[in-house]
Amino acid sequence: MYQYIINGRKKLSGQIDISGDKNTALKIIPSTILSSEKSIISNIPDITDIKIMLEIMEDLGVIITLLDSQKYEFDCSNIHKTVIDPILAKKLRASTVLIGPMLARFGEVTLPHPGGCIIGQRPIDIHLDAFVKLGAKIEYHEDSYTIKASQLSGAKISPHTVSVTGTENIIMAAALSQGTTTIEYAACEPSVIALADFLNSRGAKISGAGSPRIIIEGVDKIIGGQTTTIPDRIEAGTFFILGAVGGGDITINNCDPNHLEVFLSFMDQIGIKYTRDQHQLHVYHSPDIKAKNMVTNPYPGFPTDLQAPYTILMTQTKGLSMIHETIFEGRLNYVEWLNKMGANIVSCDPHRAIVFGPTPLSGKKIVSPDIRAGIALVIAALIAEGQSQIDNIDLVDRGYANLDERLQSLGASVVRHQIN
Ligand code: EPZ
Repeated sequence: MYQYIINGRKKLSGQIDISGDKNTALKIIPSTILSSEKSIISNIPDITDIKIMLEIMEDLGVIITLLDSQKYEFDCSNIHKTVIDPILAKKLRASTVLIGPMLARFGEVTLPHPGGCIIGQRPIDIHLDAFVKLGAKIEYHEDSYTIKASQLSGAKISPHTVSVTGTENIIMAAALSQGTTTIEYAACEPSVIALADFLNSRGAKISGAGSPRIIIEGVDKIIGGQTTTIPDRIEAGTFFILGAVGGGDITINNCDPNHLEVFLSFMDQIGIKYTRDQHQLHVYHSPDIKAKNMVTNPYPGFPTDLQAPYTILMTQTKGLSMIHETIFEGRLNYVEWLNKMGANIVSCDPHRAIVFGPTPLSGKKIVSPDIRAGIALVIAALIAEGQSQIDNIDLVDRGYANLDERLQSLGASVVRHQIN
């Protein structure tokens, strides 16, 4: 277990290079299972979630070769089992997206109900219902599922809720099915587009990715290919907010501002000063910033993964702002820690909180509840007066590579300790 000791209120400025997108890499990596030919993926982020996904794939028999920094070759020609390691799968909710490619290639897969963040129920009914519609049968065991399909056939699938991994799982299963699959009410995230582009470059026939209606014409064979993971928009937005409240100015390199349009329009309304280029954002300390209500929505709306960092920003703005988390029912679990640091936030219900700002924050002993709340509390500690100790930093490591080194390069006083 690791903790951070942070001494706050250092003026933060300098350059940050954005990593490859965690939530894209976690899908394009298992998509290599759809072919017995080798694939190469670059710009894979060096984070714990990826390490677990690679371990799961190697346990199945995938030969993974590190070609260069963050660049791997995947050889899925020798997969020798269809049971996903239950201990590893429990650590990674995204292990769910192994079902689609394993079902499409081998006709069978067994895995436990996935684990992941404690941000809500995290059901997988959308995934399982879709696989049944595509012709699969599900055997429920004590704490795992075996899903079998001798042949997947195209179907019309209308999820009751926009599900990112649900959309991606269906795409991967339908890619090698017989006939045409239509997803009505698909997720539009950049990770969905990146997955479809990678699969299309390997012989798949997917149209409409990035829109609510995606059509997948099943093909007989998907070949190997090469791709580079898109930049992590959530990491870019997180460091943007750090720049806005951190007292200095921060240049965010290797990002794609086009994936943050709605987020940036909120920043405009709040009065954050920044400039943007094709692959860069430069954010400046912005003294007179105004509170603004925010509602999270599926892409292209305001991202739920930036909800917690946004709340930190609101604690430093003049006025009252409503934070409305519509995607998950457990994603405001960090508010109590912020109030302990001096914020003035009223929790209305599991989905809404009201922030009264600005309030000075003071350093405290904190425990990180999950990836995104964890990074938000790190930002809070960086702007707080005095010293903070943040436990459970292992959760933040799931989504942010070399975070302490990158923060130190901006002038932050943050030291990582192993505590047991
Ligand atoms: C993906 O999670 C991301 N994870 C999440 O990022 C992100 O917060 C989320 O999408 C929403 O944008 C990955 O891509 C690995 P959902 P996912 O299925 O796909 C309900 C992070 O910190 N639902 O889009 O698991 C669900 O309860 C993580 O990087 C069902 O009802 O989320 C939620 O209310 C956290 N049944 C809503 O849909 C299902 O079968 C959206 O969930 C699936 C989902």
